[in-house]
Amino acid sequence: MSNSGDLIRRRERAVCSGVSRMSDLTVSSAQGAELTDLDRRPILDFAGGIGVMNVGHCDEEVVRAIREQAGELLHASIHVATYEPYVALCEKLIELFPHGDRTKAMLVNTGAEAIENAIKIARQATGRAGVICFTGAFHGRTLMALTMTSKVSYKIGCGPFAPEVYRLPYPLVRQHRGDREQEVAERELSRLRAALNDTVETGNVAAIILELVQGEGGFNVAPKAYVRGLREICDEHGIVLIIDEVQTGFGRTGRWAAYEHYGVTPDLSTWAKSMGGGLPISAVVGKAEIMDRASPGTLGGTYGGNPVACAAALATIRRMETLGLNASAERAGARIRERFDTIASRVPEVTDVRGLGAMMALEFSQQGDASRPAPSLVKNIISTCLDRGLVVIPAGVDGNVIRILAPLVISESDLDRGLDILEASITTHTTQPAHAGSEG
Ligand SMILES: Cc1ncc(COP(=O)(O)O)c(C=O)c1O
Repeated sequence: MSNSGDLIRRRERAVCSGVSRMSDLTVSSAQGAELTDLDRRPILDFAGGIGVMNVGHCDEEVVRAIREQAGELLHASIHVATYEPYVALCEKLIELFPHGDRTKAMLVNTGAEAIENAIKIARQATGRAGVICFTGAFHGRTLMALTMTSKVSYKIGCGPFAPEVYRLPYPLVRQHRGDREQEVAERELSRLRAALNDTVETGNVAAIILELVQGEGGFNVAPKAYVRGLREICDEHGIVLIIDEVQTGFGRTGRWAAYEHYGVTPDLSTWAKSMGGGLPISAVVGKAEIMDRASPGTLGGTYGGNPVACAAALATIRRMETLGLNASAERAGARIRERFDTIASRVPEVTDVRGLGAMMALEFSQQGDASRPAPSLVKNIISTCLDRGLVVIPAGVDGNVIRILAPLVISESDLDRGLDILEASITTHTTQPAHAGSEG
């Protein structure tokens, strides 16, 4: 048996099945935009460990910073003793993401934890309980985050969920329906205003939480007019606007923050994934007057802002600045969009090309009918890509989207090579008569 096959067997025996496994891919090491599996097979990485590796795998300076910090201080707990890397990282986040006049930050370990803490801050700051979230949202797998997460298959049997969470339709713009951004924005803002009359009173809404480009939800991009309207409604009613930048942040969309595309500043924002260059670290950044309303002891945790993870994040951010990763994302995004548009023009099953910056996706539907999602087709394409040396992952509530989250340090030639593999795999599964029928 191959080394990979052996490890997968061991995993099946030892690791419970609730921890999902997208494929039989194994990995023993990684560099830049390439993984090496347990049988020494190189695999081009278009997944980035689910959007974590914007700075690339095992960046030399990030690894050096981790090694140096590990020799100095592995753990203290910020609640027990103050250490420099925690404070320095908060200072850096405040500099990158000013939320009005005075900004403050706090650190935890995962995206879900950042979300949990942001909600706790919003509730304490407003003295209100209600939270409005959206269809297609993904905010993580802890109780409050999972409650706000939309896709039902992530939630099976996990209830009861947290109370006082209200869900509205995400402002989806779909070309095949002839949707116009402005009209979608106006319709969904009216719906929100109506919900504040017929679903939850404004005096009970602490926060509205939104991904500007939905990650797990399938790279749906919120219209600018909607987000501006949301900001106005929040201001009018004293509601805290939380933008979840966990997947969009740190260069993925061609800006440090996706909200920079919108000309809107949130009250609170949440960060994780690519911030740590591969180590688990996350943050809530926000207006100081809101952040400071949380009582001492209500936020954080034993490991939050671990010194080694902080050193990794500081080195990662420095590297992103030096390498100019936002510009790289714009370049890569333009290239991916061009290739995707070409694919869409000749493959009827591709019913949408969407995204922002390098956060790009293709949507697949049966026989080009966008009301009939094609998750099996997506699975087949992804599996063929893997056979040909490319890892790419799905998205979307219906699982019918292929999303690109390649490290932003990927070379132009590797990006093109990966796109060639993806295109050829799409062709394999969409032009052969055996696959022309409906999903089975
Ligand atoms: C937008 C968004 N928020 C929150 C999370 C949760 O992050 P984590 O898996 O680190 O808890 C994710 C993870 O995919 C995400 O994409």
